[in-house]
Amino acid sequence: MANYDVIIIGAGPGGYVCAIRCAQLGLKTAVVEGREALGGTCLNVGCIPSKALLHASHQLHEAQENFPKMGLKGKAPSVDWKQMLAYKSEVIEGNTRGIEFLFKKNKVDWIRGWGSIPEPGQVKVGEDTHSAKHIVIATGSEPAPLEGVAIDEKVVVTSTGALELGKVPKRMVVIGAGVIGLELGSVYARLGADVTVIEYLDTITPGMDGEVQKTLQRILKKQGLKFVLGAAVQKSEATKTRAKVTYRLKKDDSEHEIEADCVLLATGRRPFTDGLGLDKLGVKLTKQGQIEVGRDWQTGVRGIYAIGDAVPGPMLAHKAEDEGMAVAEQIAGRHGHVNYGVIPGVIYTWPEVAAVGETEQTLKAAGRAYRAGKFMFMGNARAKANFAAEGFVKILADKDTDRILGAHIIGPAAGELIHEICVAMEFGAAAQDVALTCHAHPTYSEAVREAALACSDGAIHS
Ligand code: NAI
Repeated sequence: MANYDVIIIGAGPGGYVCAIRCAQLGLKTAVVEGREALGGTCLNVGCIPSKALLHASHQLHEAQENFPKMGLKGKAPSVDWKQMLAYKSEVIEGNTRGIEFLFKKNKVDWIRGWGSIPEPGQVKVGEDTHSAKHIVIATGSEPAPLEGVAIDEKVVVTSTGALELGKVPKRMVVIGAGVIGLELGSVYARLGADVTVIEYLDTITPGMDGEVQKTLQRILKKQGLKFVLGAAVQKSEATKTRAKVTYRLKKDDSEHEIEADCVLLATGRRPFTDGLGLDKLGVKLTKQGQIEVGRDWQTGVRGIYAIGDAVPGPMLAHKAEDEGMAVAEQIAGRHGHVNYGVIPGVIYTWPEVAAVGETEQTLKAAGRAYRAGKFMFMGNARAKANFAAEGFVKILADKDTDRILGAHIIGPAAGELIHEICVAMEFGAAAQDVALTCHAHPTYSEAVREAALACSDGAIHS
C-alpha cells in the first residue's frame, strides 16, 4: 500500500480542511471516510442541510408576513415538502462534490471505508493497511442519547432524522433548547407545525449572554414556539405515528405528558471515536469521552493527533477547520495556532444570534471591570426598512483599556456582523477603534459601530 506523510481519519470540516492544507504544504496526504460523500455531519446531515431548510422556510415567512406590507400582492406560496427536500439534497450534493473536486485538485487521496489504527503509523481500512508518518483523528461527534428516549429516526428523531421527515408534523416536541432544537424547531414552526420546546434549564441557549437569551425566547414565542423551561424529560413512548413525552417540572416536582407526531431529541452531542482502537493504543480520553491532546493537538501517542468535535472545546465546524489548518502547519514544521478566545458562535434562527468572547456573566464571575455598549436595531434605518428591527448589538470592553472583550448580537445578519468584532479582537482593538471606523450608510453594520460608540460617549441614533 502507498505510504503517506499524513492520513486523516474523517472528512468533515476538520478533516477535509486539514487534508487540503497538508497537501498545499507539500505533504502526501490521504483521507479515510466511510460515508458515501465527503463533508461529514456538517455537510451531509448538519449545518448545510439545516441552513437550506431555514432559508426556504424563512422565504415562506417573508412571503406570508411581509410581502403584502411592501405591496407585493398575490397568493402566498404553499409548501411542497418533497421539492423542499429535493432542494436541500441538491445543496448538499453541490457542496460535497465541491470537496471531491478540491481533493482532486490538491492530489488528496480518498480512501473509502472506516479506518482504525492498529498501531502508531498504520491505518487499517477493510483488509488494507496503509502507513503514514502522521495520523490525524477527525472523526467528529454523534447525537448523545437520553435515557428513556428511544430513537427510531421516524417519529422520535435526532437532527439527522429531522432533516428527512416524511411530512411536516402537525405537532412537534423538541427536547433541548440549544442550537439544534431552536434552529430545527424554527423551521417546522414556520412550516406550520405546533412546536413545544422542553428545556432542563431555566433559560434557553445555555452559555449565551443573558439578555440575548431572554430576547431570543421572547421573539421565538411571538413566532409561535412554546417553551417549557426547568423541565427534565423522563421518557418517551412511541407508536408508528405518535409519541408521548413525559417530563417533570423542577419547581414543584409535578409530572406532565405531552403528545406529538414528531419528537426531536436535541440534548447535545458526544465525541465519536468508536472502532478506532484507541484503548489498545493507549490514547487517553476525558470523562466526557473526548480525546486528550496537547497544545500541538498531539495525543499521548507520538504521531497521532486529534481535532474537532472529538477533542475538548466547542463542537463547531469552524473550530474544527481552524484546528485542521493548525495541525497541518504543525506537521509541516511550521507554527499552527488557534485563538480559542475568538471563536464566534452563531444560531441561525430569525433573527440570528451571534456571540464571541466573554459574556457579562463570565466577566462578572471573574470580577473584571467592563463597559457594555448597546445599540438597538430599532435605531438602524436599514433594519427598519427590511422588517428586521428586533434585537441589538452589545459590545463589552475593558473599563480601563477599552479593549474589546466580547460581543453579542441578536438581529439581522448577526452571523455576518460578528466577524467585524472577531477581526477587531484578533488585532487587540479598543471599542473606540471600531467607533472611529467609517461604516457605510445604510447598513446593518452601522449598528456595530453605534454599539462601539455606546461604550464611551454614546451612540448617535438612540
Ligand atoms: P446544546 O448543548 O446546544 O443544547 C442542548 C440543550 O438540551 C441544553 O440547553 C440542555 O440544557 C438541554 N437538555 C439536556 N438534557 C435535557 C433533558 N433531559 N431535558 C430537557 N432538556 C435537556 O446541544 P444541541 O443543540 O444538541 O447541539 C449539539 C452541538 O452541535 C452543540 O455543541 C452545538 O454547538 C452544535 N451545533 C452548532 C450549530 C451552529 O453552530 N449553528 C448548529 C447545530 C449544532
